[in-house]
Amino acid sequence: MSDVLSLTRAARLIGVTRAELQKKIQRGEMISHDGTVTVGNLLACYPDAQLEDDAETRRIAQIKERAFGKRVLERSLPEPEVLAARIIELSKTLAHSEAQIKRFNALLGKLWDKLNETEAKLDAEAHATVEELRQWITLEVEMATEPGFINPLAVKDAVLSVMTAQVTVLPSKHDFMVEGHDTLLEAAMRAGIPLDYGCSGGNCGKCKAKVVSGKVRKTRLHDFVISEVEKSQGYILLCSNTAVSDVVIEAPVANSVLDMPFQQIKAHVKTTGHINDDMLLLHLQTPRTQRLRFLAGQSVTLRVGQSYSAELPIASCPC
Ligand code: FES
Repeated sequence: MSDVLSLTRAARLIGVTRAELQKKIQRGEMISHDGTVTVGNLLACYPDAQLEDDAETRRIAQIKERAFGKRVLERSLPEPEVLAARIIELSKTLAHSEAQIKRFNALLGKLWDKLNETEAKLDAEAHATVEELRQWITLEVEMATEPGFINPLAVKDAVLSVMTAQVTVLPSKHDFMVEGHDTLLEAAMRAGIPLDYGCSGGNCGKCKAKVVSGKVRKTRLHDFVISEVEKSQGYILLCSNTAVSDVVIEAPVANSVLDMPFQQIKAHVKTTGHINDDMLLLHLQTPRTQRLRFLAGQSVTLRVGQSYSAELPIASCPC
């Protein structure tokens, strides 16, 4: 687990919203640098963070309890291949850490022998200094190997890294989490990140982006052709790939309404709800391949047949 966490990841680990962390930073209760926070600062603000009884663990338990109903399964669990790939990645990290610990233990043993050898050749005064050093090393090693010396966030981070992956978008530095069967594009949309896209079905190529680091996996076949040269440079379609590990991608993000294309979309009324005599709640559904792209503050003209037309403001993404 890295010592520096993005706010999105930190919020997931602690079980609070990203907005709550941002408020703490604004109030000066937590130190943050460039949209990140250190594990130490996070634990200083949330000293009771525990693996047990946290929102994520409860959520996983809920999934089990619901006997993996299809919708819950799709929304919450990655596809088996992605899950297997993440577990393999985690196993590699574990194997690497174990090998490193063995090397450090061997090094410690050699250091100990060297200390004993050196001590035998020293006078009484230097002997006392070496003894002091030996006691200090013994104490430090004991503290570092105490059974309770486990960072609860590191354990939780390992669990999360199997269930989800973090995506950082460059150059905007937006970040979001990918979970369940979501593609990178779907996850970005859920997080309200306005990445460029068109059909969301692998045909138009508008969601093409470059993977800078991390592993992705194609989850859908696509008709749009990415040249071999582009593939070798790491280009993928966000609507047809998911994240296996934490990834960094290069992709344009809409920063102003000027980046938003004019869109005409035929939607159907999914549900209606009565609010009062003058107001009706309409739940409109756009085709899956033609979702409405917008930034908060834009407006949409709603037309119903030839008879009704109204310009309505759009608030922020409800994701
Ligand atoms: S949005 Fe059209 S190919 Fe991905």
